[in-house]
Amino acid sequence: MAVSHPDGLSARPWVGETLLPRLPRLRKSSAADAPADHWQSADGSRPLLEIRGVSRSFGHVRALHEVDIDLREGEILGIVGDNGAGKSTLMKIIAGTVRPDAGHLTMNGEPVSVATALAARRLGIEMIYQDLALFDNLDVAANIFIGREHTRWLPLLLGFLEKRRMHKEAAELLKRLNIQIGSTRQPVGVLSGGQRQMVAIARAVAFEKNVKVLLMDEPSAALGATESETVLELIREIRSHGLSIVIISHRIPEVLSLADRVVVMKRGERVATLDAGSTTVEECVNQIVAGEAGAAA
Ligand SMILES: Nc1ncnc2c1ncn2[C@@H]1O[C@H](COP(=O)(O)OP(=O)(O)OP(=O)(O)O)[C@@H](O)[C@H]1O
Ligand SMILES: [Mg+2]
Repeated sequence: MAVSHPDGLSARPWVGETLLPRLPRLRKSSAADAPADHWQSADGSRPLLEIRGVSRSFGHVRALHEVDIDLREGEILGIVGDNGAGKSTLMKIIAGTVRPDAGHLTMNGEPVSVATALAARRLGIEMIYQDLALFDNLDVAANIFIGREHTRWLPLLLGFLEKRRMHKEAAELLKRLNIQIGSTRQPVGVLSGGQRQMVAIARAVAFEKNVKVLLMDEPSAALGATESETVLELIREIRSHGLSIVIISHRIPEVLSLADRVVVMKRGERVATLDAGSTTVEECVNQIVAGEAGAAA
């Protein structure tokens, strides 16, 4: 949708217009452990994303074996499991950076191809990797706009004007997302871990109006308790805009407080899908340690 920027500089979409209210949230399911391939929303529609029979090996290492997972519209899905359980590989397959050996994905019931990261992005799937891929020497606004800078086709001075505009829009975006960063002119390298994580999240969701799925690989792994809580609040905020979020974490209590459902992975297989509201840390740990594929769909 082309809209006018308030300063009249461009007819292109701008940041303030990109996080419009999205699809209404679906009700939170009370079913503790519905089979992944039989879930339907209240209005009878299918899950936003269905992952079916996904397998991937690296040489002799079986990273994933016939994994089925649903991601529902507007939910936060936690993924837990021991080191090497296949969590990151699964996310990378959804994000188009790793190709599966077998299996397929559907979106809104239609088979989709995520052969490349670009293909995934076109479908509205964004991934934030653990290293965040930020440019420490650039400021906050530049990081948010990287690759998508505002440019004008008039000579002189205008680079400066567009910079001002990007700072203004970046500040509006941060405010909208309730992100506390002193100035968009601060280099990202001086920010705290939590602030860096929040800049990465803001960048992922800010510009693509069609972002539907946000994949996050251990967003709070390197953060202290207070910073983690701030990042979790931001994730809840993002979800309230209608996005569906998948979050990998080793912090079980954190996942249970944040997610609607939690998938437990073990040795490349999904061993359980638990309703976060009615399960316990002990049950999660029990599934991580002793869960068996097929025991809990
Ligand atoms: N590019 C690769 N080349 C070879 N082996 C890989 C590659 N990526 C993943 N693996 C292997 O696949 C298995 C699953 O790895 P993955 O990174 O998905 O696990 P994970 O659940 O994310 O673990 P962690 O919690 O430690 O991040 C591991 O045994 C890992 O060594
Ligand atoms: Mg991992």
